[in-house]
Amino acid sequence: MMTTRFCTEFGVDYPIVQGGMQGVGRAELVSAVANAGALGFLTALTQPTPEELTREIARCRELTDRPFGVNLTILPTIDPPPYAEYRDAIISSGVSVVETAGFNPAEHVPAFRAAGVKVLHKCTSVRHAVKAQELGVDGVSIDGFECAGHPGEDDIPGLVLIPAAAERVGIPMIASGGFADSRGLVAALALGADGINMGTRFLATVEAPVHQAVKERLVEASERETDLIFRPLRNTARVARNSVSRKVVEVLDEGGAFEDVRELVAGSRGREVFETGDLERGVWSAGLAQGLIHDIPRVGELVRRIVAGAEDIVHDRLGALLTGES
Ligand SMILES: Cc1cc2nc3c(=O)[nH]c(=O)nc-3n(C[C@H](O)[C@H](O)[C@H](O)COP(=O)(O)O)c2cc1C
Repeated sequence: MMTTRFCTEFGVDYPIVQGGMQGVGRAELVSAVANAGALGFLTALTQPTPEELTREIARCRELTDRPFGVNLTILPTIDPPPYAEYRDAIISSGVSVVETAGFNPAEHVPAFRAAGVKVLHKCTSVRHAVKAQELGVDGVSIDGFECAGHPGEDDIPGLVLIPAAAERVGIPMIASGGFADSRGLVAALALGADGINMGTRFLATVEAPVHQAVKERLVEASERETDLIFRPLRNTARVARNSVSRKVVEVLDEGGAFEDVRELVAGSRGREVFETGDLERGVWSAGLAQGLIHDIPRVGELVRRIVAGAEDIVHDRLGALLTGES
C-alpha cells in the first residue's frame, strides 16, 4: 500500500488531497473523498455565514466517520468576510485539519495550533512555503503554474517548483497543480513531495455538486483551453476558456481597469455556471489538468485507480528499469 509521512501525520490512508473549491467543496464531495481514504476540504466561504459552515461540517460528519478538513481562503478584499468568526466555527466544530490559502495565515495559525487543529497552508512559491514553515504550520501544499484558480505571478510549473521547495521545506509537502492520475502521483513523489492535491480532477467526479455539463466540458477540453485572467492586475486566476474569459483578457490587455470587467467576473455568474450548466454565463476555475481528464468516475473509483496505478508504475515500469527487465 502506498503511504507517506503525510498520511501518518494527517491521519488518512492515501497521499491524495482535494483542495478547497469555492462553490464545490461541499459535504457531498468532501465526505466521498474522506470515505475513499483521502483528505477532502469543505470550503468555508462557500457557506454564506459561519453558522452555516458549522451546519455543513455537521452534515459532512453524518456522511463520513473519516477525517476531513475545511479550507479557509484569505483574500485581501475591501469588504472582507468575518474570517475570525469562520476560524472560530472551524475550531469549535472539532475538525482536525484546516487548509489555509490565499494570504499569509499568520493571524490564524496560533488559534488553530492552540486548539490542536493541523494547518496545511497552500501557497504558490518556495518563499511563501518557507515562511509558512517558520510560522509553525504542519504541512504545505504548493500550487504550480498549472493549477486552477490562483497560480501567483511567478509562473513556475511544478516540475521546478516542487523540487525547489523540497530543498527548503522540512515539513510534509503536497504538490498541487496539474495532477490528475497515477503518473502525476508518482512524479510528485519523485520530485520530493509527500502527496498530491487535485482540484480540477475532483470537479469531474460523480459526487462533485456541479452541473453535468461542467463535468462533460472538462472531459472534452484539452490542456490548451484555459485562460489566465487578471494578469495585468497581478491577481492572476486560471479559468476555463469561454467567451467571458476571452472578453476579460481582451479588456484588461487593452488597458481596462477592474471596474470594466467587474460585472463579467461576478461570483454570482460563476455560481450560475455550476448550477445551471450554462458554460458561457461567467468565469469558472479549471486547470491544465483538464487535458488529462477522460471520464467522470465516482470519487472512490478515482482514488483507488490513482493509488493502484501508482503502485503499478513503481513496481512494474520503474522497477523493471532497475532490473533491466523492460
Ligand atoms: C472550481 C474551483 C474552485 C476553486 N476554489 C478555490 C478556493 O476557493 N480556495 C482555494 O484555496 N483554492 C481553490 N481552488 C484551487 C484548488 O484548491 C487547487 O489548489 C487547484 O485546483 C489545484 O490545481 P488543479 O486544478 O490543477 O488540480 C479552486 C479550484 C477549482 C477547480
